[in-house]
Amino acid sequence: MLSRKSRVASFVSTFITILFLVQLCGCAGIELSRYYKRGIVVTGAPVATQVGVEIFAAGGNAFDVAVAVGFALAVVHPEAGNIGGGGFAMVRDGHGGLVEALDFRETAPAGASEQMYLEDDDQVRPDASTTGALAAGVPGTVAGLYELWQRHGSLPWEQLVTPAAQLAETGFLVDDYLAASLEKHRESLAGFEATAQMLLTGGDAPSAGDSLVLSDLASTLYAIAAEGPDGFYKGTVADKIVSCMQEHGGLISHDDLKDYKSVWRTPIAFQFDSLTVYSMPPPSSGGICIGQILSLLQPYDFATLSPMSVEYIHLFAEAARLSFADRSEHLGDPDFYDVPKGLLAPPYLEHRADLIDKDQATPSQQISPGAPISGESEQTTHYSVCDSAGNTVAITYTLNAAYGCKLVVEGAGFLLNNEMDDFSIKPGYPNLYGLIGGEANKIEPGKRMLSSMSPTLVFKDGQPFMVLGSPGGSKIITVVAQAIVNFTRFHLSLAETVAQARFHHQWLPDILYLEEGRFDINTIQGLIARGHNVKEQEPFSDLQAVYIAEDGLMTGTSDPRGRGSVGGL
Ligand code: GLY
Repeated sequence: MLSRKSRVASFVSTFITILFLVQLCGCAGIELSRYYKRGIVVTGAPVATQVGVEIFAAGGNAFDVAVAVGFALAVVHPEAGNIGGGGFAMVRDGHGGLVEALDFRETAPAGASEQMYLEDDDQVRPDASTTGALAAGVPGTVAGLYELWQRHGSLPWEQLVTPAAQLAETGFLVDDYLAASLEKHRESLAGFEATAQMLLTGGDAPSAGDSLVLSDLASTLYAIAAEGPDGFYKGTVADKIVSCMQEHGGLISHDDLKDYKSVWRTPIAFQFDSLTVYSMPPPSSGGICIGQILSLLQPYDFATLSPMSVEYIHLFAEAARLSFADRSEHLGDPDFYDVPKGLLAPPYLEHRADLIDKDQATPSQQISPGAPISGESEQTTHYSVCDSAGNTVAITYTLNAAYGCKLVVEGAGFLLNNEMDDFSIKPGYPNLYGLIGGEANKIEPGKRMLSSMSPTLVFKDGQPFMVLGSPGGSKIITVVAQAIVNFTRFHLSLAETVAQARFHHQWLPDILYLEEGRFDINTIQGLIARGHNVKEQEPFSDLQAVYIAEDGLMTGTSDPRGRGSVGGL
């Protein structure tokens, strides 16, 4: 019998061999549609997918895989994979079938205040909520992944973190996607010395084929592997975070780090046709908004519609407009704000449904948030994991913008988030995604900022049926809702569902966004004739989806817009 240490060593050497073969073959991007029996993992980065497959091969369950992939993405997908950010997990325990939501969203530091991004004359300080130390919330990822492992994991913690540490230590090959992403953000990354040292070479972005070694990140990950969350929230790494804050004018203190806690929450659950959908509750807006949109669409007969028909796109946009209006007013951290309970109540939604004009776009100025009965991109990344025991995990986590606030903690090798921008930094002032808010989402110490991240599980006859989620800021909500409609109402294959052209409406600005080059001129003219303000935009989001067939076999699709992959056993 191998000791735990030698088991880890043997696992790591197998892993590195396979990783080498994957990179040598250039397998990234080649994706065969196939079914898996033992377990499946779909992520936005092939090397992270491979880490997940290796954990399955080592006997891990879906939760073990989810933890290992979370750390691996923090190395190979630095724009969004993270230990300096936060996120959400929707999980289903195969034993007993309980579905729960794990909230490891960042919190506002104790020193945060409603006025912190405003000048004396009440004007918003440019970039303060998006760039640099002041933009960072207290990170939640390490605490969240540890909590997930403690409750559901089966392999030793160290075994799950070590592959990521090894990748950072020995280096990994930069692929075309990462090279292009680093080049796109080169100027802003170069603005911070520690960031430039970590991700750039002499000020230049690495080229595809270069090896990226992240030694400081490796040390941090080894500390987390050995000590669990204490290796991050206390000790040397915590000291480095606090020094970084002091040097760059941020607020996160030792107490903020020590006090951070992830929270188990009751998911938002709703019916769509014969399916039961579970998605993320506040502080995400995802579950409620997806629930509202799908419930508003529910009564319509789709028999004569298609995913590209003007009638469908119009109806969806009207429903999304109504839902995002509610989001702006009613949603925030439920530990700080009394989120109305009736936002998915049938009588309330019937009243909202009356506001949908079936033929003409309703100008957003004519739509206000409702009065429910009182009484719930690249910038983010999602992955979906499932095993034959019925354990199911959907995780969306983020630094907010690509590469977060662009600031690397010196000596600790990881990027900090700029999640504070997801608060309403001033009533009515749009955030990075053009979303506005007010009282419900104002900044308060210790509060979690409102999110759109929507890790989602769909059940059919009580059994897991789909696992899905996506990056994309506010677009996450419409992307996930459209995927459910495409797969279950329009009966597209999973690959078609994920590849299908996307559109988005979020009430304000009053614009119907269409993916560029994907909608024909007749459709565009049809939408304009109905009064929509149409704007084409480059393809968005990076959906990672799993379908579980009735016989328990699992298949997956990683969004062709990204560079992700599907793996399994
Ligand atoms: N940072 C994007 C979101 O949480 O919605």
